Amino acid sequence: MTKRNTVYDCNILPLSKIHNRAGNITIIEGEKDVPFPIKRIYYLYDIPSGETRGGHAHKELYQLIVATSGSFDVLLDDGKNKKMVTLNRPDYALMVVPGIWRELFEFSSGAICLVLASQKYDENDYLREYIQFKNYKQQ
Ligand code: TYD
Repeated sequence: MTKRNTVYDCNILPLSKIHNRAGNITIIEGEKDVPFPIKRIYYLYDIPSGETRGGHAHKELYQLIVATSGSFDVLLDDGKNKKMVTLNRPDYALMVVPGIWRELFEFSSGAICLVLASQKYDENDYLREYIQFKNYKQQ
């Protein structure tokens, strides 16, 4: 039941890192390094200073969020508990399970926020109003 998910179900996952003198490579394979098949990838970039992204929850979507460049903060909220996570390394990912309100902010200059998602885009999966989210969690 995604309605019962809490911020404590959202964890930092260390990713692979193959290091050599010519630079590093991190590999993420669906169903191996992430516990879902990856159906969609998108990334946020050119985010103006002081902007906030997110501000919604999903009913079914699982996401893995990576700061592939720069840094930003993620506020997670399950309607009862809140958790703040700073992402600032390309070899660490934040797993966000369904049923969690999220806001992303404090983007550094040049930050890139990579998101791996378990489903294709579906506007019906969004809870875009906080009150709608709270009602959903209380059902
Ligand atoms: P949204 O998910 O609200 O962005 P964020 O959480 O980063 O602030 O999406 C912003 C806009 O982009 C919105 O109009 C929907 C559209 N969009 C798509 O068409 N497909 C997608 O896969 C995503 C993530 C967004």
